[in-house]
Amino acid sequence: MDMSKKGYFITLEGCEGSGKSTQLKKLEEFLKNSGVDFVFTREPGGTPIAEQIRKIILDGNNTAMCDEAEALLYASSRVQHIKEKILPAKNQGKIVVCDRYIDSSFAYQAYARGLGIEFVKGVNVYAVENCMPDLTLFLDISPEDAFARKGGADEGDRLEQSGINFHKKVYEGYKTLANDYSQRIVCIDAKKGADEVFDQIVKVLKEREII
Ligand code: TYD
Repeated sequence: MDMSKKGYFITLEGCEGSGKSTQLKKLEEFLKNSGVDFVFTREPGGTPIAEQIRKIILDGNNTAMCDEAEALLYASSRVQHIKEKILPAKNQGKIVVCDRYIDSSFAYQAYARGLGIEFVKGVNVYAVENCMPDLTLFLDISPEDAFARKGGADEGDRLEQSGINFHKKVYEGYKTLANDYSQRIVCIDAKKGADEVFDQIVKVLKEREII
């Protein structure tokens, strides 16, 4: 039996302040009302061990962490998450929705940090070979627009300290990915109001016969 045919794995991606949390809340409400069996999760994290790894990665005191170690920690948290949570749920026929996943590693580590796509694919080989998303929704809004809307970055968080140039590179990375994986990654115009953005998401889910 081909287990990969069961369930559905959807990831949500975007730059900081792209409105991801708002859309995730709307999607959760929508899926609850439509009566489908679903699981919501996030990266880095999603399981107790992966959440511990998340704390190390996002700790504002860990300024000495090198880019390679960071990429490996994301990949490590991801394997645990896949084996413990994502694949079991998907194989039970559930819709798994994940806040960030491997495209965050491509956009942030490969493109923005400059590790390159081959390095990041290499450390993520388990995810690449066993658990690629069926659909990725990319909330497309430039970091300039996103930060203006958010009213500035949060202080203290190690990654939020990176500055606008870093986030521009992240955004360009996502645009490249959306172009390279145009079947899997769907761009959602995230400059619109929250309801209009969500309408676009529902349209895609209907088109793909997920709901
Ligand atoms: P989080 O506070 O959850 O941010 P957001 O609300 O923007 O999702 O922090 C997650 C951070 O981790 C975010 O800055 C992106 C980064 N990240 C990577 O750099 N690589 C990855 O593979 C993942 C999953 C996240």
